[in-house]
Amino acid sequence: SPYSSQRRHASKHRFFVVELSQALFDFVIRLLPAQEEMAVKEDVRKLLERLIRTIEPDSRLLSFGSTANGFSLRNSDMDLCCLIDSAERLSASDMVTMLGDLLERETKFHVKPLPHARIPIVKLSLDPSPGLPHGIACDIGFENRLALENTRLLMCYAMIDPTRVRTLVLFLKVWSKRRNINSPYQGTLSSYGYVLLVIYFLIHVKNPPVLPNLQQMPPLRPISQEDTHIGGHNTWFFDDIELLRQRWQSSNTDSVADLLIDFFRYYSRDFTYNTGVASIRGGLLKKDSKGWQNELAAGRYNDSRERNRFCIEDPFEIDFNVARCVTKEGLYQIRGEFMRASRILAMRPRASVALAQLCEE
Ligand code: CTP
Ligand code: MG
Repeated sequence: SPYSSQRRHASKHRFFVVELSQALFDFVIRLLPAQEEMAVKEDVRKLLERLIRTIEPDSRLLSFGSTANGFSLRNSDMDLCCLIDSAERLSASDMVTMLGDLLERETKFHVKPLPHARIPIVKLSLDPSPGLPHGIACDIGFENRLALENTRLLMCYAMIDPTRVRTLVLFLKVWSKRRNINSPYQGTLSSYGYVLLVIYFLIHVKNPPVLPNLQQMPPLRPISQEDTHIGGHNTWFFDDIELLRQRWQSSNTDSVADLLIDFFRYYSRDFTYNTGVASIRGGLLKKDSKGWQNELAAGRYNDSRERNRFCIEDPFEIDFNVARCVTKEGLYQIRGEFMRASRILAMRPRASVALAQLCEE
């Protein structure tokens, strides 16, 4: 009867989802960095901090990006930010030049100073060795306080629902790298961009939501302009996660696999790429309202149109499109991958087969 066929269908689906969720946890766990890798990275950070202090005694070297936000994979690179507390400090590009010279002289790192980049950095790498089979790649920037704060924001989101959020994010990072759509230099999206897409989806698309909007929660006590702004950008968010856990519980009970299936479906079918802006702060916004589009002015603003094919608002620097590097071809490729992933999952193969196919290189 149609009734029993429907039930068979539902139970087959439930089996698929349970098996796939378990397979996703297992898959992701195997890709986490070993304790030892984390320890080596911390030693490198300390060593570099000591060296930098010979140039600027009042400086601190802090981790941001994946090493600090809970979304790190084995052998992921290290993002470091140098903060200088003294009033009279050298400019970022002078620091880059000086630090580049110093590291070249004093360490075994390969050093590449980029003093004239939009964000001046020193790039470092260490060749593989027995203790460090994959070497190390590391970028040191200066005074990038917004990056430290957005790292803390992502970390807080990861802490609210560690299992579902981290599994989804880590899986999508691996998937996007294996499928070759994780490289802003080649017209696709950074890991940071993918993380924002996941968080946007969990706050604003899923109903009931899996995550609250930490930037829109009422503050516990009055907050001053000064405490919450960096360079004119409002960086306030609710960061007392212990308290939040006592007061807020998601009523969404979807499994990781349910969420992944919906994620791929949403970004292959429903997200309005032509007109929409994904904003974790404000939900689905319009390109028009941010001055981030326009097909009409294609001739004159060709450049700006190229930069706004795909729009993801930075959580704090709200006039900054995190996906501005995504080109027409890049977006076509990314959307093609979302569709391919949806298609694979719709066939409900065995979980191990599904993951192998999804991440096929
Ligand atoms: N970042 C940023 N604005 C961007 C890109 C990156 O502020 N447009 C900052 C964010 O703080 C982000 C960090 O740089 O957390 C690192 O970005 P990225 O390398 O894309 O993410 P990771 O999580 O470090 O991923 P991976 O492991 O692939 O390096
Ligand atoms: Mg990184």
